[in-house]
Amino acid sequence: MSELNKIALEILNNGKGILAADESTGTMTKRLEGVSVPSTPENRLLFRETLFSSLGMKEFIGGVILYDETIKQTSSKKNKIPELISSMGSHPGIKVDTGAKVLAGSPNEKITEGLDGLRDRLREYFHLGAKFTKWRGVYNISKDYPSKLSIQSNAHALARYSALVQESNMVPIVEPEVLMDGDHSAKDCYQKTSEVIKKCFEELILHKVDLTGIILKPNMILSGNKSKNKISNEEIAKLTLECLKNSVPSEVPGIAFLSGGQSELEATENLNLINKLNDTNFIMSYSYGRALQQSALKFWSKNIQDIDGTQRIFNHRAKMNTLAAQGKWSKEIENQ
Ligand code: 13P
Repeated sequence: MSELNKIALEILNNGKGILAADESTGTMTKRLEGVSVPSTPENRLLFRETLFSSLGMKEFIGGVILYDETIKQTSSKKNKIPELISSMGSHPGIKVDTGAKVLAGSPNEKITEGLDGLRDRLREYFHLGAKFTKWRGVYNISKDYPSKLSIQSNAHALARYSALVQESNMVPIVEPEVLMDGDHSAKDCYQKTSEVIKKCFEELILHKVDLTGIILKPNMILSGNKSKNKISNEEIAKLTLECLKNSVPSEVPGIAFLSGGQSELEATENLNLINKLNDTNFIMSYSYGRALQQSALKFWSKNIQDIDGTQRIFNHRAKMNTLAAQGKWSKEIENQ
């Protein structure tokens, strides 16, 4: 077993999942201002440190994705943040893309940037303790989109990123996110997501990326958030599993879904159903941002001193998702 495969499995084994706490300062500012907390470096650290030092980290969270600001911060107990995460038995990770920008040639679409100078930044992050990384490509669905240009260029960037990350002895999370925004059907999402993922693997193979040492972070197959034709959670699970079975090479050890705007409960319930049906060798777990943090953030914003109360809420969400990653979640357990 390669070292990278071992790290990928440590992150996702036994129902463990990933806490995506890598919101850029702009996104984190929106989240904090949404609950009327000023977005200062101290407040961003305080909320995140509260989550990272929760007991639930030990049992449920195999990896935490950090943002550049956070990986360089020191906790109130004077621990470097990556050290705090490692001391909780979890692996520190880092978002290394520099964001999605307008795609020249197709201005309604985006291309993710950050390849220039990446090798040097990776070296720095590795020395700061990062064991894995994240890069997110985004695709929107409508009649003409995603275009071939967006599918091709984002796959190319994801593959160049992944090759550089493995060269630096870290596990790349490959995240092609087909957005849920719009009125498209689940069938459209299925077709576009299949096309996007297949192209990513074509490029990853071309760039000689070791597929046993990556984690795929895809969206689930959903109808658009403005679609009138919603499908059931059972259908979401069935289509998601079918899409991944047909587009992901069997060497890939693990798939960790993004929540992408689903509510906390939807994200848990859908993951649970996917795992009940899962007849593949892929681990199917979670790498949630909003769906792990929303309730905890809301509570914390009104009770900033109440660390235990905030951690209790986070621990519960992490536990529910870890049960879902094993197909063992139920509404009764949720409400106990
Ligand atoms: P959400 O789960 O909030 O979609 O965030 C996951 C993520 O890391 C998106 O890049």
